[in-house]
Amino acid sequence: MFYDFSKKKPALFLAPMADVTNPAFRSIAHERGADFTYTEMIHSDGFNHGDPYAKNRGFSIQDVPYGIQIVGNNAESIAKAAAGLQDLFKPAVKVIDINMGCPAPPITKTGCGAALMAQDYGSPNHPASIVRRVSDAVELPVTAKIRIFKDDEKTIRLAKSLEDAGVSAITVHGRTKDQMYSGNANWDIIAKIKKELSIPVILNGDIVDEKALQSAMDLTGCDGYMIGRGAIGNPHLFWRLKSYLKSGEPENISAPDEFVVRIADLNQYFLLLKRYDLLPHVNIRAHAQWFTKGLPYSREMRLKINELHKDVKIREFSDAELTVERESLGIEIEEIFNEYADKCRQDYS
Ligand SMILES: Cc1cc2nc3c(=O)[nH]c(=O)nc-3n(C[C@H](O)[C@H](O)[C@H](O)COP(=O)(O)O)c2cc1C
Repeated sequence: MFYDFSKKKPALFLAPMADVTNPAFRSIAHERGADFTYTEMIHSDGFNHGDPYAKNRGFSIQDVPYGIQIVGNNAESIAKAAAGLQDLFKPAVKVIDINMGCPAPPITKTGCGAALMAQDYGSPNHPASIVRRVSDAVELPVTAKIRIFKDDEKTIRLAKSLEDAGVSAITVHGRTKDQMYSGNANWDIIAKIKKELSIPVILNGDIVDEKALQSAMDLTGCDGYMIGRGAIGNPHLFWRLKSYLKSGEPENISAPDEFVVRIADLNQYFLLLKRYDLLPHVNIRAHAQWFTKGLPYSREMRLKINELHKDVKIREFSDAELTVERESLGIEIEEIFNEYADKCRQDYS
């Protein structure tokens, strides 16, 4: 098993998120309390054809177990990439996860992500067939991340077929492909899947705070809870949830303290991005916007951040130039953050 579910109950997972869960972000999430993290999805064809960016997403900064997620449209390509990624990142990587739930049209139009769920049983590219093929190609355990169908029975059948095919655990995002990210995640169907399966089930969708976590735990009794959007710009959420799981009480954090924590996280994030040459690959402005969300003065900060280096045409930059550009942007963003942190402290003193 890639994670000892019997040890830490329940486990908190960081969701794989493209353009978000890069190695630096995963490292901070782990330090704040995420028990397990997955890489952003790595396209199997991209990796198999030597795309350097695909490799760039797969490593880990810390010596802690993590999983690599692969997206692709056929069993052969996914299996080949899985074997290659396993060899490249062993022994740190502990599991290969297969993306069967991404609903974004550029992904599904090419038969990847949630489009796999529409394949016929028995076809070589049905999710269960893919799991069998990938399991044959790698020594690592394999997990799957799916969405739900409108029809509960259909969803349970798919989950069971994945269990039979040998997945070590399954993550279920409680929305259909067509829902994309709208409406509420359906945790009732996840509760049914948990009852039907013997392998660990990880619930995903709408865990944004202590209350949501508690409700999802009460309803489903799942083995793990995977957090996506709630952690964007806010890896500190893992610390809050972890301390809630220990004490049973939500932490009452004052606005200035929240500010200090977010600044510390952002500073560390910049530091790691620089240290590991990740700056050219990360949209630093977007991350800064996310880190300010919900803070006092967030509107003012966001407007100021938007104005920084507004007319710079980064499309024409080399990686080296991009690094310099993003480093200076990062320093200016930190200055804005620090300015408003002082204001916030004065407001509350
Ligand atoms: C920006 C963004 C990128 C995402 N990228 C991936 C991805 O690479 N692989 C994947 O399986 N899901 C991806 N997802 C979906 C999330 O992993 C998760 O299933 C979804 O956000 C629901 O969880 P949440 O309600 O906690 O956000 C992405 C979601 C977002 C918002």
